[in-house]
This record gives sequence, C-alpha cells and structure tokens, in this order.
Amino acid sequence: EENNIKIITIDGTAGSGKTTIAKFIAEKLKFDYIDSGALYRAVGLITKEKNLSTEEEIIGFLYQNPIKFNFEDKIFRVYISDREITSMIRTEEIGKYASIVGRMPRVREFLTSYQREFLRKVKKGLVLEGRDSGTVVFPNANLKLFVNANIDIRAQRRARDLSERDIERIKKYIIERDKQDMNRDIAPLRFPNHGYFIDNSESPLEEIYDKIISLYLKAL
Ligand code: DC
Repeated sequence: EENNIKIITIDGTAGSGKTTIAKFIAEKLKFDYIDSGALYRAVGLITKEKNLSTEEEIIGFLYQNPIKFNFEDKIFRVYISDREITSMIRTEEIGKYASIVGRMPRVREFLTSYQREFLRKVKKGLVLEGRDSGTVVFPNANLKLFVNANIDIRAQRRARDLSERDIERIKKYIIERDKQDMNRDIAPLRFPNHGYFIDNSESPLEEIYDKIISLYLKAL
C-alpha cells in the first residue's frame, strides 16, 4: 500500500483454482506471494496435532513456534519453527481444521497482522491469496479478484489433486467448507468492493492470465 509496492488480492471458494492463478501471476510479475490458506492450514494442523482447544493455547503455541514460509519454483513451503509441513497440510481434513480455526477472532487477528507485516519485506509487489485478502487484509489493494468455478469442476479438480476417487465425498467437504467460510461472523468470504469476478470453470488458463494482467495494467 505504501511507497510503490503493488498488491493484488485473490480470494475465492475452495477448489476454485485460485492458487494456480495466484502463483502464475506472482511469477509473471516477479511479485512475492502468500497463500494465506496455507497459514490457516498450518494453524489447523498444530491445533489437531497438539490437541489445542482454546485460542489462548493456539496463540501461545504460535509465539513459541513461529510459522515461516517461502515461495520458490512455484512451491509455497510452510514451516512451524523449522519443521516443514508443506505437504502435511494439504488434506481435506486439515482444510476443515483450517476453516474451524478461521472462525476464531484472535487467530484471525494474529494471521492478519502477520500478513500485513510481511509487506515490509516486499520489494516490488505482493500477490495475496485467501478468503479475506481484499476485504480485510488489504482493502486498498491495486487489484482485487474473486475466483469461483462450478461445483462439479471444483470437486473434480480437488479429487485429482488429492488422488481421491470419491468425488461426491470431496464435493460435500467443499460445500460444507464454503458455507462455513461465507457464514462466519468475522471476515467471511465475500466479494471485495471494486473487485473483479473471475469464472474459472471453463476458460483456458492462458485466457484468464491475460485477462488478469490486463486488469492489473489498467488498474495502475
Ligand atoms: O484456501 P484453502 O482451501 O487452503 O483454505 C483453507 C481454509 O482456511 C479455508 O476453508 C478457510 C481458512 N482460511 C481463512 O479463513 N482465511 C483465509 N484468508 C484463508 C483461508
């Protein structure tokens, strides 16, 4: 927001393909990238592993064992202290935990500050992906996108990513998670003011990338 640092926010539903889009845009523009869902997933993972039950316990644990990340070669790696948890957080079960901790006010406060503070290390620009990136974390971003796709396509993509055969099961998970994310009291998944809608159901990715880049250039 300050100086000349540019911000693009990409919010959207579960399995909408926002990660693929966000990473591509970040690489193309040589921007930093944060997958905030991965941060919520990291908190979900430790909550499950350590059997933490209150927000105080979770925040206390995070102060002792900080979350770290880096983005290189299209991979967003996540660590708790120095333990890498990049692949462990990718299950639908951890997605559900992430959605649950995402309803906790102090957890959101903690991760929101964490994301805003990262801006100090950003040199050129930041692509931030999540559920509240354009509505809460950076409402003054240069470009705010909201990605969605039809539910069957989302379930198929998710199932493929997870090598899961039971598409109906995945579909149920996704619907439940969206409902939870859209109906929570704090920072619910919403279309951002002055945002642009991206339908990622059918269009080839190249077309979507071109559209976003031209929206970005116009926004400058
Ligand atoms: O984007 P994802 O599917 O990896 O996100 C997992 C969950 O984390 C999502 O269902 C809700 C929560 N989340 C959130 O509450 N706020 C964010 N900015 C990102 C994710």
